[in-house]
Amino acid sequence: MQSKKNPKVFVTRPHMPPLDSFNHLLKEIWSTKVLTNNGPFVTTLENQLADYLEVPHISLYSNGTLALIAALHALNIEGEVITTPYSFVATSHALWWNNIKPIFVDIDPDTFCLDPGKIEEAITEKTTAILPVHVYGRPCKAAQIQRIAQKHGLKVIYDAAHAFGVKQGGQSVLLEGDLSILSFHATKVYNTIEGGAVVCRTAEMKNKLSQLRNFGFVNEVRVLRPGINAKMNELQAAYGLLQLETIDQQIANRKQKTLLYKSLLKDVAGIRCYEDLENVQYNYGYFPILVESAVYGKERDALYYYLQQKNIFGRRYFYPLISEFEPYNQLPSSSTGNLPIAYDISRKVICLPMYFELEDKLIIEICTSIADFSVQNS
Ligand SMILES: Cc1ncc(COP(=O)(O)O)c(C=O)c1O
Repeated sequence: MQSKKNPKVFVTRPHMPPLDSFNHLLKEIWSTKVLTNNGPFVTTLENQLADYLEVPHISLYSNGTLALIAALHALNIEGEVITTPYSFVATSHALWWNNIKPIFVDIDPDTFCLDPGKIEEAITEKTTAILPVHVYGRPCKAAQIQRIAQKHGLKVIYDAAHAFGVKQGGQSVLLEGDLSILSFHATKVYNTIEGGAVVCRTAEMKNKLSQLRNFGFVNEVRVLRPGINAKMNELQAAYGLLQLETIDQQIANRKQKTLLYKSLLKDVAGIRCYEDLENVQYNYGYFPILVESAVYGKERDALYYYLQQKNIFGRRYFYPLISEFEPYNQLPSSSTGNLPIAYDISRKVICLPMYFELEDKLIIEICTSIADFSVQNS
Protein backbone atom coordinates (compact mmCIF):
# COMPACT_ATOMS: atom_id res chain seq x y z
CA MET A 1 0.00 0.00 0.00
CA GLN A 2 1.29 3.46 -0.89
CA SER A 3 1.89 5.71 2.12
CA LYS A 4 -0.19 8.90 2.19
CA LYS A 5 1.80 11.96 1.12
CA ASN A 6 1.88 15.17 3.13
CA PRO A 7 0.43 18.25 1.45
CA LYS A 8 3.15 20.20 -0.33
CA VAL A 9 5.59 21.80 2.10
CA PHE A 10 7.49 24.78 0.71
CA VAL A 11 10.70 26.35 1.90
CA THR A 12 8.75 29.15 3.51
CA ARG A 13 5.24 30.29 4.24
CA PRO A 14 4.44 33.82 5.27
CA HIS A 15 3.25 34.53 8.76
CA MET A 16 0.22 36.78 8.49
CA PRO A 17 -1.42 38.98 11.12
CA PRO A 18 -4.91 38.10 12.37
CA LEU A 19 -7.42 39.05 9.67
CA ASP A 20 -9.67 40.86 12.18
CA SER A 21 -6.83 43.14 13.24
CA PHE A 22 -5.99 43.89 9.63
CA ASN A 23 -9.66 44.56 8.86
CA HIS A 24 -9.73 47.03 11.69
CA LEU A 25 -6.84 49.00 10.15
CA LEU A 26 -8.34 48.67 6.68
CA LYS A 27 -11.51 50.33 7.97
CA GLU A 28 -9.38 53.26 9.08
CA ILE A 29 -7.77 53.49 5.64
CA TRP A 30 -11.17 53.24 3.98
CA SER A 31 -12.43 56.14 6.06
CA THR A 32 -9.43 58.44 5.58
CA LYS A 33 -8.86 57.36 1.96
CA VAL A 34 -5.15 57.97 2.40
CA LEU A 35 -3.70 55.11 0.40
CA THR A 36 -0.13 56.18 -0.31
CA ASN A 37 2.32 59.13 -0.53
CA ASN A 38 3.89 59.02 2.91
CA GLY A 39 0.67 58.46 4.82
CA PRO A 40 0.31 58.03 8.59
CA PHE A 41 0.85 54.26 8.60
CA VAL A 42 4.11 54.57 6.67
CA THR A 43 5.36 57.30 9.01
CA THR A 44 4.40 55.29 12.10
CA LEU A 45 5.99 52.14 10.75
CA GLU A 46 9.21 54.00 9.96
CA ASN A 47 9.40 55.20 13.58
CA GLN A 48 8.48 51.86 15.09
CA LEU A 49 10.93 49.94 12.92
CA ALA A 50 13.76 52.34 13.73
CA ASP A 51 13.01 51.78 17.44
CA TYR A 52 12.69 48.02 17.12
CA LEU A 53 15.85 47.62 15.05
CA GLU A 54 17.75 50.16 17.17
CA VAL A 55 18.87 52.21 14.20
CA PRO A 56 18.72 56.00 13.77
CA HIS A 57 16.62 56.27 10.59
CA ILE A 58 14.68 54.15 8.13
CA SER A 59 13.19 55.09 4.79
CA LEU A 60 10.53 52.60 3.72
CA TYR A 61 10.36 51.41 0.13
CA SER A 62 7.95 49.38 -1.97
CA ASN A 63 10.49 46.54 -2.13
CA GLY A 64 14.10 45.71 -1.33
CA THR A 65 15.34 45.86 -4.93
CA LEU A 66 14.25 49.48 -5.37
CA ALA A 67 15.65 50.28 -1.92
CA LEU A 68 19.04 48.97 -3.07
CA ILE A 69 18.89 50.77 -6.42
CA ALA A 70 18.08 54.02 -4.60
CA ALA A 71 20.74 53.49 -1.91
CA LEU A 72 23.45 53.12 -4.57
CA HIS A 73 22.13 56.18 -6.37
CA ALA A 74 21.98 58.22 -3.15
CA LEU A 75 25.71 57.65 -2.60
CA ASN A 76 26.58 58.44 -6.26
CA ILE A 77 28.14 55.01 -6.72
CA GLU A 78 29.51 54.43 -10.22
CA GLY A 79 32.15 52.48 -12.13
CA GLU A 80 32.87 49.11 -10.51
CA VAL A 81 31.52 47.63 -7.30
CA ILE A 82 32.87 44.57 -5.55
CA THR A 83 30.15 42.13 -4.65
CA THR A 84 29.29 38.50 -4.01
CA PRO A 85 28.00 35.97 -6.52
CA TYR A 86 26.34 34.02 -3.68
CA SER A 87 23.09 35.94 -3.28
CA PHE A 88 19.72 36.54 -4.83
CA VAL A 89 20.09 38.02 -8.30
CA ALA A 90 18.60 41.39 -7.21
CA THR A 91 21.91 42.25 -5.53
CA SER A 92 23.71 42.53 -8.88
CA HIS A 93 20.67 43.75 -10.78
CA ALA A 94 20.61 46.84 -8.54
CA LEU A 95 24.15 47.60 -9.76
CA TRP A 96 23.16 47.03 -13.36
CA TRP A 97 20.23 49.46 -13.03
CA ASN A 98 22.74 52.09 -11.89
CA ASN A 99 25.02 51.34 -14.84
CA ILE A 100 27.62 49.90 -12.45
CA LYS A 101 29.77 46.88 -13.30
CA PRO A 102 29.69 44.13 -10.67
CA ILE A 103 33.07 42.63 -9.83
CA PHE A 104 32.51 39.23 -8.25
CA VAL A 105 34.74 38.15 -5.40
CA ASP A 106 34.63 34.75 -3.74
CA ILE A 107 32.92 34.01 -0.44
CA ASP A 108 34.21 33.04 2.94
CA PRO A 109 33.64 29.32 3.67
CA ASP A 110 32.57 30.08 7.27
CA THR A 111 30.01 32.83 6.72
CA PHE A 112 29.13 32.28 3.01
CA CYS A 113 29.47 36.07 2.74
CA LEU A 114 32.04 38.06 0.75
CA ASP A 115 35.58 37.03 1.75
CA PRO A 116 37.38 40.18 2.99
CA GLY A 117 40.72 38.51 2.29
CA LYS A 118 39.96 38.54 -1.44
CA ILE A 119 38.57 42.04 -1.82
CA GLU A 120 41.76 44.06 -2.15
CA GLU A 121 43.10 42.16 -5.15
CA ALA A 122 39.88 43.01 -7.04
CA ILE A 123 40.11 46.78 -6.48
CA THR A 124 40.92 48.89 -9.54
CA GLU A 125 40.94 52.66 -10.14
CA LYS A 126 37.28 52.33 -11.17
CA THR A 127 36.15 50.73 -7.90
CA THR A 128 33.89 53.01 -5.87
CA ALA A 129 32.18 50.70 -3.39
CA ILE A 130 31.73 47.26 -1.84
CA LEU A 131 28.32 45.59 -1.79
CA PRO A 132 28.38 42.63 0.61
CA VAL A 133 25.34 40.55 1.59
CA HIS A 134 24.60 39.17 5.07
CA VAL A 135 23.60 35.84 3.53
CA TYR A 136 20.87 33.99 5.51
CA GLY A 137 21.25 36.79 8.08
CA ARG A 138 24.77 35.69 9.02
CA PRO A 139 26.83 38.78 9.60
CA CYS A 140 29.62 39.56 7.18
CA LYS A 141 33.09 40.16 8.58
CA ALA A 142 32.23 43.84 8.69
CA ALA A 143 35.21 45.17 10.65
CA GLN A 144 37.63 43.79 8.05
CA ILE A 145 35.50 45.10 5.19
CA GLN A 146 35.39 48.55 6.80
CA ARG A 147 39.18 48.65 7.17
CA ILE A 148 39.62 47.88 3.47
CA ALA A 149 36.99 50.43 2.47
CA GLN A 150 38.65 53.12 4.57
CA LYS A 151 42.11 52.34 3.21
CA HIS A 152 40.89 52.65 -0.40
CA GLY A 153 38.27 55.38 0.05
CA LEU A 154 35.35 53.13 -0.86
CA LYS A 155 31.72 53.23 0.26
CA VAL A 156 30.10 50.11 1.73
CA ILE A 157 26.45 49.34 1.09
CA TYR A 158 25.12 46.22 2.78
CA ASP A 159 22.43 44.12 1.19
CA ALA A 160 20.86 43.16 4.52
CA ALA A 161 17.71 41.74 2.91
CA HIS A 162 18.05 38.67 5.17
CA ALA A 163 19.28 40.42 8.28
CA PHE A 164 16.15 41.86 9.92
CA GLY A 165 16.82 42.14 13.65
CA VAL A 166 20.26 40.51 13.48
CA LYS A 167 22.76 41.79 16.04
CA GLN A 168 26.42 41.14 16.62
CA GLY A 169 28.02 42.02 19.94
CA GLY A 170 24.69 43.55 20.96
CA GLN A 171 24.60 45.98 18.03
CA SER A 172 22.41 45.85 14.93
CA VAL A 173 24.35 44.73 11.84
CA LEU A 174 22.29 47.33 9.98
CA LEU A 175 24.61 49.97 11.41
CA GLU A 176 27.58 48.63 9.46
CA GLY A 177 28.84 50.43 6.37
CA ASP A 178 27.37 53.59 4.85
CA LEU A 179 23.88 52.25 4.17
CA SER A 180 22.02 48.97 4.58
CA ILE A 181 18.93 47.79 2.78
CA LEU A 182 16.24 45.39 3.97
CA SER A 183 13.64 43.35 2.11
CA PHE A 184 10.20 42.76 3.56
CA HIS A 185 9.13 40.38 0.81
CA ALA A 186 6.59 37.70 1.74
CA THR A 187 9.41 35.13 2.00
CA LYS A 188 11.28 37.09 4.65
CA VAL A 189 11.20 36.75 8.46
CA TYR A 190 9.49 40.13 8.70
CA ASN A 191 7.20 40.76 5.75
CA THR A 192 4.93 43.55 4.54
CA ILE A 193 3.77 41.40 1.55
CA GLU A 194 6.20 43.31 -0.67
CA GLY A 195 8.37 45.96 0.90
CA GLY A 196 11.82 47.14 1.75
CA ALA A 197 13.81 49.85 3.46
CA VAL A 198 17.07 51.72 3.56
CA VAL A 199 18.68 52.16 6.97
CA CYS A 200 20.77 55.29 7.39
CA ARG A 201 22.45 57.37 10.07
CA THR A 202 21.40 60.95 9.39
CA ALA A 203 18.12 62.79 8.95
CA GLU A 204 19.66 64.40 5.87
CA MET A 205 20.22 61.03 4.19
CA LYS A 206 16.74 59.85 5.17
CA ASN A 207 15.35 62.97 3.55
CA LYS A 208 17.29 62.30 0.37
CA LEU A 209 16.13 58.68 0.27
CA SER A 210 12.54 59.70 0.90
CA GLN A 211 12.75 62.15 -1.99
CA LEU A 212 14.29 59.52 -4.25
CA ARG A 213 11.40 57.10 -3.65
CA ASN A 214 8.92 59.82 -4.64
CA PHE A 215 10.18 60.96 -8.06
CA GLY A 216 12.69 63.34 -6.44
CA PHE A 217 10.03 65.76 -5.21
CA VAL A 218 11.22 68.13 -2.48
CA ASN A 219 7.93 70.01 -2.40
CA GLU A 220 4.99 70.67 -4.69
CA VAL A 221 6.99 72.72 -7.15
CA ARG A 222 10.53 71.40 -6.89
CA VAL A 223 12.08 68.18 -8.20
CA LEU A 224 15.69 68.00 -7.09
CA ARG A 225 16.74 64.59 -8.41
CA PRO A 226 15.62 62.07 -11.00
CA GLY A 227 13.81 59.94 -8.44
CA ILE A 228 11.74 56.87 -8.97
CA ASN A 229 8.37 55.65 -7.75
CA ALA A 230 9.24 53.27 -4.92
CA LYS A 231 6.79 54.30 -2.22
CA MET A 232 5.41 51.83 0.28
CA ASN A 233 1.62 52.11 0.40
CA GLU A 234 -0.59 52.42 3.46
CA LEU A 235 -1.99 48.89 3.27
CA GLN A 236 1.49 47.41 3.31
CA ALA A 237 2.49 49.64 6.22
CA ALA A 238 -0.63 48.83 8.26
CA TYR A 239 0.05 45.12 7.71
CA GLY A 240 3.67 45.72 8.70
CA LEU A 241 2.65 47.37 11.99
CA LEU A 242 0.68 44.27 12.92
CA GLN A 243 3.59 42.02 11.97
CA LEU A 244 5.84 43.94 14.30
CA GLU A 245 3.60 43.05 17.25
CA THR A 246 4.53 39.36 16.99
CA ILE A 247 8.02 39.47 15.47
CA ASP A 248 9.86 38.46 18.66
CA GLN A 249 7.57 35.47 19.06
CA GLN A 250 8.11 34.54 15.39
CA ILE A 251 11.90 34.67 15.73
CA ALA A 252 11.84 32.65 18.98
CA ASN A 253 9.68 30.04 17.24
CA ARG A 254 12.16 29.80 14.34
CA LYS A 255 15.03 29.41 16.77
CA GLN A 256 13.33 26.43 18.40
CA LYS A 257 12.81 24.84 14.95
CA THR A 258 16.44 25.48 14.03
CA LEU A 259 17.59 23.70 17.19
CA LEU A 260 15.29 20.76 16.45
CA TYR A 261 16.64 20.42 12.89
CA LYS A 262 20.20 20.57 14.19
CA SER A 263 19.66 17.96 16.85
CA LEU A 264 18.03 15.60 14.35
CA LEU A 265 20.68 16.05 11.67
CA LYS A 266 23.77 16.07 13.83
CA ASP A 267 24.47 12.35 13.36
CA VAL A 268 23.67 12.18 9.65
CA ALA A 269 27.08 11.75 8.07
CA GLY A 270 27.70 14.12 5.18
CA ILE A 271 25.06 16.70 6.18
CA ARG A 272 26.59 19.92 7.48
CA CYS A 273 24.62 22.53 9.38
CA TYR A 274 25.79 26.03 10.18
CA GLU A 275 27.40 26.63 13.57
CA ASP A 276 25.93 29.69 15.25
CA LEU A 277 28.35 32.24 16.67
CA GLU A 278 27.86 33.05 20.34
CA ASN A 279 27.87 36.83 20.07
CA VAL A 280 25.29 36.92 17.27
CA GLN A 281 21.55 37.29 17.69
CA TYR A 282 20.16 35.58 14.57
CA ASN A 283 16.70 35.78 13.06
CA TYR A 284 16.67 32.14 11.87
CA GLY A 285 15.23 33.11 8.50
CA TYR A 286 16.71 30.15 6.64
CA PHE A 287 17.88 26.66 7.46
CA PRO A 288 20.60 25.77 4.94
CA ILE A 289 22.34 22.40 4.95
CA LEU A 290 25.39 21.39 2.93
CA VAL A 291 25.38 17.94 1.37
CA GLU A 292 28.91 16.53 1.30
CA SER A 293 28.11 13.86 -1.27
CA ALA A 294 31.33 11.84 -0.83
CA VAL A 295 30.34 11.20 2.79
CA TYR A 296 26.54 11.31 2.46
CA GLY A 297 26.61 8.81 -0.39
CA LYS A 298 24.25 10.74 -2.66
CA GLU A 299 24.48 13.92 -4.70
CA ARG A 300 22.83 17.13 -3.49
CA ASP A 301 20.40 17.19 -6.41
CA ALA A 302 19.44 13.54 -5.83
CA LEU A 303 18.44 14.46 -2.27
CA TYR A 304 16.69 17.62 -3.46
CA TYR A 305 14.49 15.64 -5.90
CA TYR A 306 13.99 12.79 -3.45
CA LEU A 307 12.54 15.27 -0.96
CA GLN A 308 10.33 16.70 -3.71
CA GLN A 309 8.88 13.24 -4.30
CA LYS A 310 7.86 13.40 -0.66
CA ASN A 311 6.31 16.82 -1.23
CA ILE A 312 9.13 18.62 0.57
CA PHE A 313 10.11 21.59 -1.57
CA GLY A 314 13.37 22.99 -0.26
CA ARG A 315 15.28 25.53 -2.37
CA ARG A 316 18.85 25.51 -3.60
CA TYR A 317 19.57 29.05 -2.43
CA PHE A 318 21.91 30.19 -4.02
CA TYR A 319 22.26 28.01 -7.06
CA PRO A 320 23.07 28.94 -9.76
CA LEU A 321 25.39 31.73 -8.66
CA ILE A 322 24.49 35.23 -9.87
CA SER A 323 27.70 35.12 -11.92
CA GLU A 324 26.32 32.14 -13.86
CA PHE A 325 23.23 34.00 -15.12
CA GLU A 326 23.31 35.35 -18.67
CA PRO A 327 23.61 39.08 -17.88
CA TYR A 328 26.78 38.38 -15.89
CA ASN A 329 28.41 35.17 -17.09
CA GLN A 330 30.69 36.87 -19.61
CA LEU A 331 32.37 39.08 -17.02
CA PRO A 332 35.98 38.11 -16.31
CA SER A 333 35.26 37.98 -12.56
CA SER A 334 32.49 35.42 -13.17
CA SER A 335 34.87 32.58 -13.99
CA THR A 336 34.55 29.50 -11.81
CA GLY A 337 38.29 29.71 -11.15
CA ASN A 338 37.76 33.10 -9.53
CA LEU A 339 34.91 31.86 -7.34
CA PRO A 340 35.77 28.31 -6.24
CA ILE A 341 34.19 28.45 -2.76
CA ALA A 342 30.95 30.03 -3.95
CA TYR A 343 30.77 27.49 -6.77
CA ASP A 344 31.35 24.59 -4.38
CA ILE A 345 28.81 25.76 -1.77
CA SER A 346 26.19 26.46 -4.45
CA ARG A 347 26.49 22.81 -5.52
CA LYS A 348 26.04 21.52 -1.96
CA VAL A 349 23.37 23.69 -0.42
CA ILE A 350 19.70 23.05 0.20
CA CYS A 351 17.57 25.36 2.32
CA LEU A 352 15.06 23.23 4.19
CA PRO A 353 11.55 24.45 5.06
CA MET A 354 11.56 27.05 7.82
CA TYR A 355 8.51 29.03 8.87
CA PHE A 356 6.35 29.80 11.88
CA GLU A 357 3.64 27.22 11.23
CA LEU A 358 5.99 24.38 10.30
CA GLU A 359 5.09 21.54 12.63
CA ASP A 360 7.75 19.69 14.59
CA LYS A 361 6.45 16.40 13.26
CA LEU A 362 7.21 17.58 9.72
CA ILE A 363 10.73 18.55 10.72
CA ILE A 364 11.15 15.05 12.14
CA GLU A 365 9.84 13.54 8.88
CA ILE A 366 12.15 15.70 6.77
CA CYS A 367 15.20 14.74 8.82
CA THR A 368 14.22 11.06 8.82
CA SER A 369 13.91 11.18 5.03
CA ILE A 370 17.34 12.80 4.76
CA ALA A 371 18.89 10.13 6.99
CA ASP A 372 17.09 7.25 5.23
CA PHE A 373 18.02 8.39 1.73
CA SER A 374 21.69 8.37 2.59
CA VAL A 375 21.66 4.60 3.18
CA GLN A 376 19.18 3.63 0.43
CA ASN A 377 20.52 1.60 -2.49
CA SER A 378 20.56 3.67 -5.65
C1 LIG B 1 19.76 39.03 -0.74
C2 LIG B 1 18.57 39.69 -1.36
N1 LIG B 1 18.72 40.92 -1.89
C3 LIG B 1 17.68 41.58 -2.43
C4 LIG B 1 16.43 41.02 -2.48
C5 LIG B 1 15.33 41.77 -3.15
O1 LIG B 1 14.31 42.10 -2.28
P1 LIG B 1 12.82 42.32 -2.83
O2 LIG B 1 12.28 40.99 -3.22
O3 LIG B 1 12.11 42.90 -1.63
O4 LIG B 1 12.88 43.27 -3.96
C6 LIG B 1 16.22 39.74 -1.93
C7 LIG B 1 14.94 39.04 -1.87
O5 LIG B 1 13.98 39.01 -2.39
C8 LIG B 1 17.32 39.05 -1.37
O6 LIG B 1 17.18 37.82 -0.88
